[in-house]
Amino acid sequence: MRKILVTSALPYANAPLHIGHIVEYTQTDIWARFQKMRGNECWYICADDSHGTPIMLHARQKGITPEELIAAMSEEHQADFRDFRVGFDNYHSTHSEENRECAELIYERNLAAGHITSRKIVQAYDPEEKMFLPDRFIKGECPKCGAADQYGDNCEVCGATYSPTELKNSYSVVSGAKPVEKESEHYFFKLADFEDMLREWTRGGHLQPEVANKLDEWFEAGLREWDISRDAPYFGFEIPGHPGKYFYVWLDAPIGYMASFKNFCGKKGLDFDEFWAAGAETELYHFIGKDIIYFHALFWPAMLDGAGFRKPITIHAHGFLTVDGQKMSKSRGSFIKARTYLDNLNPEYLRYYFAVKLGSGVDDIDLNLEDFVQRVNSDLVGKVVNIASRCAGFISKRFGGRLSESLSEPELFKTFTDASESIAEHYEKREFSRAVREIMALADKANQYIDEKQPWVVAK
Ligand code: 2FM
Ligand code: ZN
Repeated sequence: MRKILVTSALPYANAPLHIGHIVEYTQTDIWARFQKMRGNECWYICADDSHGTPIMLHARQKGITPEELIAAMSEEHQADFRDFRVGFDNYHSTHSEENRECAELIYERNLAAGHITSRKIVQAYDPEEKMFLPDRFIKGECPKCGAADQYGDNCEVCGATYSPTELKNSYSVVSGAKPVEKESEHYFFKLADFEDMLREWTRGGHLQPEVANKLDEWFEAGLREWDISRDAPYFGFEIPGHPGKYFYVWLDAPIGYMASFKNFCGKKGLDFDEFWAAGAETELYHFIGKDIIYFHALFWPAMLDGAGFRKPITIHAHGFLTVDGQKMSKSRGSFIKARTYLDNLNPEYLRYYFAVKLGSGVDDIDLNLEDFVQRVNSDLVGKVVNIASRCAGFISKRFGGRLSESLSEPELFKTFTDASESIAEHYEKREFSRAVREIMALADKANQYIDEKQPWVVAK
């Protein structure tokens, strides 16, 4: 029996889930259910990603504490997950004692091993709010084309990229004040210390080939030191020994996988070290979106390695969801919240459609609404459900819900049972579209058999 710990990315406790999120949770949930059905010990773990500036400001805007905001958001997320039938074994929060413990431990071990350094850097600062401003909290006129109200890192009108100091007439999105430059001490994780390990690990079969290739580009560009600290005010964990300095949200976010599992171990009596100690023989799988590969395939294995923990067996990245070929957009009215979907349609339809579309690669997947209707009606209802709906009536009415003791066509039955290993292999490799194709071909066979035999006639 394999022992498997599987995770999906932790959603930000800042906004409701949309159906783009549901792609990943459906994908992971199918895989975790498959592992459990095969008799493996498999735990599916997740949590809300609860720290960072946007959450702090959002709470302030609503006139509540960040703790109140993340508690409400966590309930909303968990209700959406439950209603989409996502079967987590544990759902926790990065704003938890377990996560504080794990984050401090990982930081302290890396510090002791010489992988953390510090220096002063200059950043944009809001003199009214007395806070440093992340790029997306600074707006101004594009230095290239002059378009107004552009974010601090790139222009949505001409596509130029720049640093916030280059913006003309810049202002803080928080207070409207003009940002000034201010110096402060920051703490950095020395990613380059892990270059040899990472080069080997990223080629060790833990990543999809196209992802490993992308990483080669990043190695070429050079592994830069990673700023893991933020100044107060910040919603997160204070860095031990450095009052007023906090761990950057992305430092403690993946550690949330560990923390949620630790919380679960406490409830279940499982052995934490069996899944996280260096050299652990269990399997650790992370499902993520392709936009967060850098964090998961470079920073995360390096942090774990530097702290003497095991590294993931597999990181599986998926593409983005488009709706009718386009990015979901609030202004075009094509942005679909998970709850909006649930208020209108059966979750199984969308889970099925995503399974039809999901392969093992990182290609984007498209929810084509016409195709969606067609697939649900013809495959799910017309083929699979049809088998039950054609047979259930006479089986229960005339035979008291009992099936025959012998098969009329054992050979045909065998073609079904023989397919199980190849279907299982597709699931294992996350080739869900292939699994579905094979299952639907069998459903066609079953329907043909029923057409030929007309058992309701025989029953009469
Ligand atoms: O990109 C995101 O939505 C992040 N909240 C994902 C975090 S995944 C893990 F590192 F916690
Ligand atoms: Zn521009």
